[in-house]
Amino acid sequence: MPPSSKVEKTGTRDVVLAVDQLSVRIDSQDVVNDVSFSIQQGQCVGLVGESGSGKTMTALAIMGLLPLGASAAGSVQLEGNELLALKNSALRAVRGRRIAMVFQEPLAALNPVQTIGTQIAEMYRLHERCSTRIARRQAVDALAEVQIPDPERRARTYPHELSGGMRQRAMLAMALACRPSLLIADEPTTALDVTVQAQILDLVRRLARERDMAILFITHNLAVVSELADSVVVMYAGRTVELAPATALFDAPLHPYTAALLTTVPRIGHRRARLPSLPPSGLHEHTATGCAFASRCPLAASACSQAVPGLEPQANDRHCACFHPLGDGTHGLDAAPAVRRPRQVDA
Ligand SMILES: Nc1ncnc2c1ncn2[C@@H]1O[C@H](COP(=O)(O)OP(=O)(O)OP(=O)(O)O)[C@@H](O)[C@H]1O
Ligand code: SF4
Ligand SMILES: [Mg+2]
Repeated sequence: MPPSSKVEKTGTRDVVLAVDQLSVRIDSQDVVNDVSFSIQQGQCVGLVGESGSGKTMTALAIMGLLPLGASAAGSVQLEGNELLALKNSALRAVRGRRIAMVFQEPLAALNPVQTIGTQIAEMYRLHERCSTRIARRQAVDALAEVQIPDPERRARTYPHELSGGMRQRAMLAMALACRPSLLIADEPTTALDVTVQAQILDLVRRLARERDMAILFITHNLAVVSELADSVVVMYAGRTVELAPATALFDAPLHPYTAALLTTVPRIGHRRARLPSLPPSGLHEHTATGCAFASRCPLAASACSQAVPGLEPQANDRHCACFHPLGDGTHGLDAAPAVRRPRQVDA
């Protein structure tokens, strides 16, 4: 992946996560196909795409947490170690300690009958084998680090006693407890109002910079990605359709789907555009013989339904899976329809 622009770096950084041709199959349906990307130390990669495109399944495959009936193929290397080959017991040791994940709805991930402090302390006891007293102290410090006011008192509260923003901060504290090399955040701010969302994004940005952590940030919200990511992976119907440094992608997307997605980002003084209408189920697209986006693509030609376009390297460290990327001049369009890098964070 290209060097980052958002978090200052010098020279070549270590690759923390290398995903190579990852595929996920559930009940004989391929929901993720040949997804490849890597994340360096201190880099944030945004994984975007609309509902059902396979973002969460990609994350769960990396974590080794796929649902029953699902299987993963390909390669997922964390700091050079192949995760897909690990047994469950070995994976449990990696989760929490080297990779941590934050989900959209913290209430579903937190234990409702244990206090926040107990749950965070458990992470320290489990992974660092420290005493209950020290683990408790560290839990309070972790709550303070994610800027929860009065952390001593909050540590004694139950998840339902906290606001949505506080709960997400507590989840972050738990995820970061053992200083993982990689944080996967799956729509962590979607359920929050726009002000709290901005605070959580600031927090993630600061912690990532201080700890030089790699981040995979999953969202359908391109405005959020523009605030945080160095590079962006755009998924559509289980496949990567574009992969590029964030600045280049927002300035001039190559794939017609990315361009359409960018027109949905609200900008002050502009009405939000809509994507062309979708077939009601994503199933057709996952199983399409040609380009999965063909039924919605204004540039589709007959060749587009004959074969699936592969993810091909383009100029300036970019990759695109389209027979006629925008800007290649073959369809009379020089660039995406008037889309610019969004600045405003969506609610
Ligand atoms: N437990 C499951 N059993 C069977 N199929 C599933 C299961 N979970 C997800 N899928 C299917 O896998 C595909 C990818 O789903 P995934 O949850 O990864 O999408 P997503 O991009 O995360 O969407 P969203 O933005 O809505 O979270 C979808 O077609 C979905 O229907
Ligand atoms: S391959 Fe064809 S249908 Fe698919 S995005 Fe490109 S132009 Fe559109
Ligand atoms: Mg999801």
